[in-house]
Amino acid sequence: MSNSSIDAVKVVCTVVLMCMLFSAPYTAEAITCGKILQDLVLPCYSYLRQGGAVTSGCCGAVRDLNSAAQTTTDRTVVCGCLQSVPRLSREINSSRLASIPGKCGVSIPYKISPSTNCSKVV
Ligand SMILES: *[C@@H]1O[C@H](CO)[C@@H](O)[C@H](O)[C@H]1NC(C)=O
Ligand SMILES: *[C@@H]1O[C@H](CO)[C@@H](O)[C@H](O)[C@H]1NC(C)=O
Repeated sequence: MSNSSIDAVKVVCTVVLMCMLFSAPYTAEAITCGKILQDLVLPCYSYLRQGGAVTSGCCGAVRDLNSAAQTTTDRTVVCGCLQSVPRLSREINSSRLASIPGKCGVSIPYKISPSTNCSKVV
């Protein structure tokens, strides 16, 4: 395994642990932050970390996430969850995170930024 995949595994493990601690409020069917992060961060990790091309796996994950987030509640969860991504690892570049939907041609109706108020996402 390269260093970068080891880092990615570490991040995913952190995510799974965090989610075990914090995921209680959502029901089994609802979109959970843990699932989002597992599905999204791993395929997007090399781009988040070092840039380059966004992989089709990463774009697919963003597209799936966007189409799965149908209700306001889901979108609020997704928004808050995306905001937490840069906090997972110092190696994750938040401006690259914000650029992923655009690079994939997926329109997410808010800016992925720490200053976005997720309770206003509709
Ligand atoms: C984050 O990525 C942007 C765009 O690729 C780059 O300009 C910036 O220098 C990067 N920041 C860090 C801390 O690596
Ligand atoms: C976010 O928006 C909600 C609803 O308008 C508001 O009550 C809340 O104070 C806002 N939070 C921040 C951090 O601006």
